[in-house]
Amino acid sequence: MALVSMVELLEKAQKEHYAVGAFNCNNMEIIQAIVAAAEAEQAPVIIQASQGAIKYAGIEYITALTKVAAEKAKVPIALHLDHGTSFAQVMQCARNGFSSVMIDGSKHPLEDNIALTNKVIEAVRPMGLSVEAELGKIGGTEDDITVSEREALFTDPAEAEHFVQATQVDALAIAIGTAHGQYKGIPKLDFERLSEIVKRVTTPIVLHGSSGVPDEALREAISRGVCKVNIDTNIREAFVLASRQVLNASPKEIDPRKMLGPAREAATAIIREKIRVFGSNGKA
Ligand code: G3H
Ligand code: 13P
Ligand code: ZN
Repeated sequence: MALVSMVELLEKAQKEHYAVGAFNCNNMEIIQAIVAAAEAEQAPVIIQASQGAIKYAGIEYITALTKVAAEKAKVPIALHLDHGTSFAQVMQCARNGFSSVMIDGSKHPLEDNIALTNKVIEAVRPMGLSVEAELGKIGGTEDDITVSEREALFTDPAEAEHFVQATQVDALAIAIGTAHGQYKGIPKLDFERLSEIVKRVTTPIVLHGSSGVPDEALREAISRGVCKVNIDTNIREAFVLASRQVLNASPKEIDPRKMLGPAREAATAIIREKIRVFGSNGKA
């Protein structure tokens, strides 16, 4: 089937209390792994590409590969720009056939974030795309900041209410204690803050930095209203570990397929596990 808009996937997830997995891709094998996992689990899925992934693979390749995968698939698939930071980047994705974009204005002051988000919504909603925005700063595990410094960057529930009223955005990424990349310890999520935000806004909530968050915490976040869960690092870990195992076991191997095939299988397996944790299995 053709690519679908993200908003329709998230509306159903919100009603039925599960989350749609949003998995980052960089190459053909990861796109195939995401689709294979979604098909095996009968799950709707979001394939997302960061600006870095687009630069690496080329936007035409990301779009063409995903479209082919979606056309062959029997489950609904959205193609989403992850952490787009400029209007120009968003428009490039819209023109190339993405069905959804994130405009991440979280580094800007609140009113500038609202203005940028509205500019994007005005431009791409008439083209049928959905829009995710970010409020609060998610950051990376490598950021050298203390727990209290990180907490100061969490999403403020009153600001979230104002942001959503001022933009009518389709999905809102929030900061409640997760971070991008590998965690040093076990992340502690601010569930009270999440519930306070969900009380104030009806917009589907997105959890970033979800690799390494314990399954129980992910289930808790979803039960409190998270509808989209972003996973990148866990796929990278599985993909690279499987490649490394092949090369360690057979240092003379020169056939890329012998390395990338097992890597694709390992990525498929971890994505299937995540889909089951999110409760989106059987929801296609
Ligand atoms: O949110 C960040 C994603 O993991 C993408 O990372 O910019 O290295 O592609 P990347
Ligand atoms: P992780 O790499 O920590 O899973 O985060 C993914 C993400 O939030 C992509 O936007
Ligand atoms: Zn993210």
